[in-house]
Amino acid sequence: MRASPLPNPPPQAGEGDRGAFGVYVHWPFCLSKCPYCDFNSHVRRTAIDEARYVRAFAREIATTAERVPGRTVTTIFMGGGTPSLMQPATVGAILDAIGKHWSVASDVEVTLEANPTSVEATRFAGYRAAGVNRVSLGVQALDDASLKDLGRLHTAREALDAVAIARKSFDRYSFDLIYARPGQTTDAWRAELAHAIDEAAEHLSLYQLTIEADTPFAALHASGKLAVPGDEHARALYDVTQEVAAARGLPAYEISNHARAGAECRHNLVYWRYHEYAGIGPGAHGRLVIDGARHATSTEKRPESWLMRVEASGHGLVTDETLTRAEQADEYLLMGLRLAEGIDPQRYAAFSGHSLDVARIATLGAEGMIESVGGRLRVTRAGFPVLDAVVADLAA
Ligand SMILES: C[S@@+](CC[C@H](N)C(=O)[O-])C[C@H]1O[C@@H](n2cnc3c(N)ncnc32)[C@H](O)[C@@H]1O
Ligand code: SF4
Repeated sequence: MRASPLPNPPPQAGEGDRGAFGVYVHWPFCLSKCPYCDFNSHVRRTAIDEARYVRAFAREIATTAERVPGRTVTTIFMGGGTPSLMQPATVGAILDAIGKHWSVASDVEVTLEANPTSVEATRFAGYRAAGVNRVSLGVQALDDASLKDLGRLHTAREALDAVAIARKSFDRYSFDLIYARPGQTTDAWRAELAHAIDEAAEHLSLYQLTIEADTPFAALHASGKLAVPGDEHARALYDVTQEVAAARGLPAYEISNHARAGAECRHNLVYWRYHEYAGIGPGAHGRLVIDGARHATSTEKRPESWLMRVEASGHGLVTDETLTRAEQADEYLLMGLRLAEGIDPQRYAAFSGHSLDVARIATLGAEGMIESVGGRLRVTRAGFPVLDAVVADLAA
């Protein structure tokens, strides 16, 4: 832990949901590892002892609640890995543990990530009974050849059947698609996205394929066996994404997330609006405000090592650092500029102790990368494809 934390700045007006407190729970297991994925997900040959994990989750929740007592949980997100491999009773027990140690808002959003297979869809009613009120399905593509290339275990038909069951089981659901896939044309993506929007109710996550280091896709890419769209083609696919989704009522509210107004994922908004959240389970990250200082926390990634740590000491923390004001300001920029609503410059100044550089804002504005609207600063459509560079410029 770093010494002498600077006090956290007082709350500012701007992002409406200031009392927000999210709880992220990580389930780190999958049936097989997708070749593009670098999430903390693991495949095990033997059955997972879910009861043992439930006890460990409950202990880590109790320990975390001792550090940040008195919060009202507004959002819960069970991510992975593949949380839909958990039995509904396991999900219920984790939610019970959260409710035992914190108050839970009456309109809490409880999301569970699911793989879109028929086996998992049979559990949806059980998840709903356990308290889940939103699912996010990893559909990834709507054509079987692409699904096979992505190493997925389901077909497009099976995924759409799972979407239909989600629609019947939950008021709110979303699904993920990956675009900029090898060989994908703008026409094919336009048609696939239109089909997806017909199947989506209120929310879609549309991710551009990223070649992550140390994945099988990275090795194939490096050896020339996997060709992904170049910058210009990727940009054209991004433009199609924005155009089709906006025209069909699902504009981007974040660089990769689209929703009807009011249907945004409230949990992810907790991250992007830089509110407080607890990270529970292997490899989970948190941002906790303790005695006025914002702590960045992370837990042991390997599931079995995390279990042993929690069983020995009540938590799996391997990082617990207080963030300086400058670090908080940078994180606020990095997170907030992903959002279409952008950031509140006054809140940035409250974190950092100084205003954003007026000359840099003017230059980026003249280049058409950012704009000021209603007292907020946001990235333009032209700026989003080069978001990292824009953030780096502003933060420098
Ligand atoms: C934890 S997974 C979702 C739940 C579930 N494990 C599944 O795959 O169906 C989160 C999402 O990140 C996206 N994703 C993962 N790796 C990616 C990559 N390399 N490029 C783009 N999107 C990726 C996928 O759309 C995936 O659904
Ligand atoms: S994409 Fe989902 S199912 Fe595939 S390895 Fe990653 S977390 Fe597991």
